[in-house]
Amino acid sequence: MPRPSLFSFCFGPVGKWRVASMQAVVGPALPPAERLAVREGAFGDHAGLVLRGVTSNARYSKRSELDALAAKQEGLGRLGATCAALIPIRKSEAWWALAQDERRAIMEERSRHIAIGLEYLPGVARRLHHCRELGEAFDFLTWFEYPPEHAEAFDDLVRRLRATEEWAHVEHEVDIRLSRA
Ligand code: HEM
Repeated sequence: MPRPSLFSFCFGPVGKWRVASMQAVVGPALPPAERLAVREGAFGDHAGLVLRGVTSNARYSKRSELDALAAKQEGLGRLGATCAALIPIRKSEAWWALAQDERRAIMEERSRHIAIGLEYLPGVARRLHHCRELGEAFDFLTWFEYPPEHAEAFDDLVRRLRATEEWAHVEHEVDIRLSRA
């Protein structure tokens, strides 16, 4: 596992990604923006909205799941992966009050998050950023890249995840879709 790395998602008039849509799934919306630049580092001087998150070690995945993911997943930055989704998520205080084993039971034994997600690899590439400890408005920034022909499958994936028990603990979620400018 590489060392944790801080990423800044900078909204504004410039950036490699053009914002195609921004939808508040639950909770308040974010201010509209034209472009998104994904940058490694803090970027405190950026004028527009900046969401920050840190990559980290896995919390819940078992060895067999990590091996299955590693065998199937592809990296970010693929030439044909011209679509992206940034989905910031905050979970409830009740979720964070649970013990690790209780959260794992909800997430995987009952909601099948990893099993469902695995079905969509390698089409969808992803990176999870944690931000609860940074004092940010969200707990996670989830980032996905996929080719346009996987857009429908990606919609299907988020629909399935949002119907799970895990998502009952999601109290703020914004679904931002992007295309490479
Ligand atoms: C966490 C896999 C899609 C949101 C995780 C983890 C795995 C995973 C393995 C657990 C990491 C750990 O052990 O700590 C996948 C795969 C996907 C996928 C293979 C297929 C592309 C999604 C989507 C969303 C999402 C579409 C949002 C709509 C999250 C969140 C977490 C997470 C918020 C953190 C949960 C927590 O720590 O409480 N995912 N996921 N995932 N995923 Fe996914």
